[in-house]
Amino acid sequence: MAVVALGADHAGFHLKEALKQWLLGRGHRVLDLGTDSTTSVDYPDFAAAVGVAVSSGHAARGVLVCGTGIGMAIAANKVTGVRAAQCNDVASAQISRQHNDTNVLALGARTTREDTALSIVDAWLETAFEGGRHTQRVEKVRALENTHAPAR
Ligand code: RB5
Repeated sequence: MAVVALGADHAGFHLKEALKQWLLGRGHRVLDLGTDSTTSVDYPDFAAAVGVAVSSGHAARGVLVCGTGIGMAIAANKVTGVRAAQCNDVASAQISRQHNDTNVLALGARTTREDTALSIVDAWLETAFEGGRHTQRVEKVRALENTHAPAR
């Protein structure tokens, strides 16, 4: 099984722990990049750690959890090579794989029930990128990383 990197802030800690146990129980390999408690921390630090793990190839996919998943997705998408989607439902997670080839999933522990979150992760991990017409669109997304950087 490919490695799944996990990261969370204090708001996402408990759901991240539940996800870890569930993933291990399903035979996945997990790279847990923290946080390790409910002590207040800053979500970008964990989004960066998981984003770099995925971008560098140390993990095939990453799952991030904060209060809403929004901050994690915003931050993770700043890492070159990351395509992160914040998903509250299974259909969005599946389409994010089929059309957008997402490699990071962001979940909201304050907005998503645990059983729903597990279903979202399950669907997201099991769904393949469709390729075809979506390939050139993902390539255009990737090209934005180079074409819209401010001049220094
Ligand atoms: C932390 O209180 C909260 O702001 C964070 O978990 C997340 O929801 C940010 O997007």
